[in-house]
Amino acid sequence: MTDMTDATGETSAQGYPAVRKLLHWVVALCVILTLIGGLMLWKYGFMGLKDNFGIETTNFVYKYHKSFGLLILILMTVRIIAKLMMPDPPHVPPLSAFHRIASKSVHGLLYLLLLAQPVVGWVATSAGGFPAEFFGGAFPDLVGKDKALSEALYGVHGALGWLIILLVAIHIGAALLHRFVYKDGVMARMLP
Ligand code: HEM
Repeated sequence: MTDMTDATGETSAQGYPAVRKLLHWVVALCVILTLIGGLMLWKYGFMGLKDNFGIETTNFVYKYHKSFGLLILILMTVRIIAKLMMPDPPHVPPLSAFHRIASKSVHGLLYLLLLAQPVVGWVATSAGGFPAEFFGGAFPDLVGKDKALSEALYGVHGALGWLIILLVAIHIGAALLHRFVYKDGVMARMLP
């Protein structure tokens, strides 16, 4: 077990394996990029985007939102396999029961939502009769055209989007609290 001390004086006995750290930060970047696109789609909608920014930018926003969203689905699948093969390092000193339950709940919900949200977006897109674009290509259609299903699922997609924003805010807030207030080495476990 290597002992780590960083600039803030935090100490931690053991960090996450390098592969899991890399997956964490790449997924974090993809979530930010996907949410920026999603929030533009929420604020403007198709017509608003087209009228304000032109059709090329509109198509780009849809394509890049779908592509990074589907990339999250792939990366989260890899992450779950990595988590099963390389379990979380133990906390030294151990977390209190409250912090252990709170962190397990937020992390579990984030894993679940980051898997469910791209699937809901993918099915909603297929049901709307549009391609699930993935950078240069597209994922296959999951269902046939069904306008009612598409609209219902976009409603779910919007609600899950806000839930993800809330959980990400709690997650970042907790990490900063551990780093700058508790100084207990929890955040250092996920840093390079
Ligand atoms: C973790 C991944 C994803 C997140 C966090 C996310 C988030 C969001 C958010 C916040 C919105 C705005 C919702 C609203 O208007 O109320 C949105 C819209 C949208 N998303 Fe996603 N999304 C993800 C993945 C995907 C995927 C994989 C697809 C399709 C393959 C997709 C397709 C769409 C489309 C087409 C819209 C516009 C919906 C409409 O016109 O009402 N999303 N997304």
